[in-house]
Amino acid sequence: MIAFPANIKSILTPRLVMVVGLLMLSTLATSACAVQESNTYPVETFSEMHYAQSHRMQEPPRLAPPADSVVFVSTGDASQVLNVPDRRERTYNPEVAGDLYRINCSVCHGVTGLGDGKATRHITSGSSFYATTQGTTYATPPNLVESAATRMTERDAIVGFVTNGAIVMPSFGKLLPEEDIRDIVNYIFDDTSGLSH
Ligand code: HEC
Repeated sequence: MIAFPANIKSILTPRLVMVVGLLMLSTLATSACAVQESNTYPVETFSEMHYAQSHRMQEPPRLAPPADSVVFVSTGDASQVLNVPDRRERTYNPEVAGDLYRINCSVCHGVTGLGDGKATRHITSGSSFYATTQGTTYATPPNLVESAATRMTERDAIVGFVTNGAIVMPSFGKLLPEEDIRDIVNYIFDDTSGLSH
């Protein structure tokens, strides 16, 4: 049995309950709309980035695999079981590629690729770190449908740009496997169910 102090009722006065409630509400309100524009990185888009595969050195310790273990992929056929593929080729699927685009790109380039994502106003803000140190505001994320149709008509050009990133745009080569980047680029060019539709 847990023994509560006899005066527990008097501690939980309505006034205390109200004060705690108000505190919780104000914490919620400030955390929901706080965007730190003056960081060196204009918008803290990927605050959990250090959990990405590419940032392994920041991960907590993990158990090492047994010394003589071998990576394998089973293709169902016993003769193929120990074949380790360099890359997992996969067929383009607009639903998978669309999800990859929405998760990784839409916050800046917008869900339909028009360059109207939610982070745009912070990227172009006059109080961003870039604006306050360079004396000029940063570029709006371009309309990707237009880019694919005019400036970057070769898919490989976009794959290269996305892999390397730009000042504000992350280098996705460190964040996504090449197949994911290719899927996203195919989705940008897709004129049946992708962005160029
Ligand atoms: C944090 C915001 C941000 C994210 C996330 C982002 N971009 Fe960008 N992107 C930009 C900005 C800003 C530019 C303009 C960069 C410049 O010109 O310096 C840009 C430029 C580009 C360009 C060059 C287009 C042109 O015509 O010059 C391509 C292509 C592109 N982004 C694709 C992507 C793709 C694909 C993703 C997702 C994998 C992505 N971006 C994620 C902000 C972002």
